[in-house]
Amino acid sequence: MAQSDWWKKAVVYQVYPMSFQDSNNDGIGDLPGITSRLSYIKKLGVDVIWLNPIYKSPNRDNGYDISDYQAIQPAYGTMTDFDEMLKKAHSLGLKIMMDLVVNHTSDQHEWFKESRKSKDNPYRDYYIWRDPVDGHEPNNWGSRFDGSAWKFDETMGQYYLHLYTEEQPDLNWDNPKVREEVWSLMCFWLDKGIDGFRMDVINLISKPVGLPDGEKKPESKYGSTSMIAGGPHLNEYLREMNQKVLSKYDVMTVGEMPGATPKDALEYTGFDSHELNMVFQFSHVGISGNSDKRLGHWNDEPINLVDLKKALSKWEIALDGKGWNSLYWSNHDQSRAVSRFATDDPKYRVRAAKMLGTTLHMMQGTPYVYEGEELGMTNAHYTELAQYEDVQSLNAYKEFVEIEKIVDKETMLKYLAFRTRDNARTPMQWDDTENGGFTQGRPWFALNSNYKEINAKENLEDEDSVFYYYQKLIELRHNNDVVVYGDYSVIDLDDEEVFSYRRRYNDETMLVISNFTDKDVIRDYGQVNGKLILSNYSDNKNTRLRAYESKVYLIE
Ligand code: GLC
Ligand code: CA
Repeated sequence: MAQSDWWKKAVVYQVYPMSFQDSNNDGIGDLPGITSRLSYIKKLGVDVIWLNPIYKSPNRDNGYDISDYQAIQPAYGTMTDFDEMLKKAHSLGLKIMMDLVVNHTSDQHEWFKESRKSKDNPYRDYYIWRDPVDGHEPNNWGSRFDGSAWKFDETMGQYYLHLYTEEQPDLNWDNPKVREEVWSLMCFWLDKGIDGFRMDVINLISKPVGLPDGEKKPESKYGSTSMIAGGPHLNEYLREMNQKVLSKYDVMTVGEMPGATPKDALEYTGFDSHELNMVFQFSHVGISGNSDKRLGHWNDEPINLVDLKKALSKWEIALDGKGWNSLYWSNHDQSRAVSRFATDDPKYRVRAAKMLGTTLHMMQGTPYVYEGEELGMTNAHYTELAQYEDVQSLNAYKEFVEIEKIVDKETMLKYLAFRTRDNARTPMQWDDTENGGFTQGRPWFALNSNYKEINAKENLEDEDSVFYYYQKLIELRHNNDVVVYGDYSVIDLDDEEVFSYRRRYNDETMLVISNFTDKDVIRDYGQVNGKLILSNYSDNKNTRLRAYESKVYLIE
């Protein structure tokens, strides 16, 4: 089938099914719930919905531990519910992209249950089993969710590899049977008519030959696994996937690739690489780590705007004309955008959310809007450990406060509050009724306490809301080639207050200006000669930029 590039003009809306809309009041979001809200998503003007995993799963890692790739998680509904959702989405002109989680399965998947039975089981080699070395783990790798990446299994006296929780054993992609299984499960969904895949940590599937120790910093207990990214056979496996599966359908693909550089991304998404359409990179969400390296991304530092500009700009420049970017501020693994990258102070929140939207949506690439971002939803500002649900956050607390004792309780709670993935996972805020209209039962996870002020109903009733502003941003992309195809140049990279850039396409120049501070500043980029096409203030003060002011100009 001929491949088209509709995804270059598309905007994606991410739905976290567990927290989007409950339809039967068991407190858990579900497929009929999503179906009932499709017209809301359509109203925003997006083209594609990315659904986080909806497959059968023990939910150790909220669906990223799959026990059956061809079954729907019972709490989310049935296959009929899925088919109905897909049909309704298509009838509204919305495409559906599914999550493909195949670096690992759940330990409850039939393959793993078989695999752990005996060394000669036909499924043994579906996973990565190794003998102990001197009575210890086969190498020094640490799990990405803390602790060792190896789990000892008594039955056969061997360890298995798990880069995430021990309930998420890594698949052995070097086994051609595993690859065939993956191609076949992909076809199962593609034949149903879905429109693409977001591929979970797909750059980790090819493990380095011999599984060598990772670099170990004196202060850390385990070796790094960062060298696994972009392993020896990754290109080969992605090309095989493309040739055997993807090339037969007109779909969109995005590979989640922690650690990937622009150079790597060009290998996988280059226009002639025949692998994937785009990657999720982590440069900009990875800025401002903790000065104590052992704590990784756990910190409560405000962002440094120059670092942010550098991180985003390097991708814009490197991929222009050769590959394709994906653009996101947040997702189910990140804090809420407005709280992390600007401010959720009620005095500025709405303007700041619009300013962030402008900064990102006017760049080159496919923008992703995470549920609630279009309402300016904020972090939950937790103060107690008991408020958390996410395994990554709970494990980190245990490791750093209780086991390693490298940080005190109060400090770690501040870090968690700022960076926990749980910030993104609180239920969607639909209205100001009890539980925000998410459920009439007891929600699986408490709503953010600000749902009475911040919700979809309030946004839809206010023509000046974040929602309608995002609608305009999406419309601008759909109607202007310069937004889609223009090249990118950043202005005054060292400016610590304002993020400005130009996009150029044929004879057109677009100028985007965003004040990231709560102060008035003066900046002259020649905007007086341009035509103002979008702004988050109702009047224009030309070179004077007010708190979190953001403007888009066209210059002929
Ligand atoms: C990805 C997912 C994250 C999950 C992890 C392991 O990073 O986005 O939610 O925990 O992979 O599957
Ligand atoms: Ca439900």
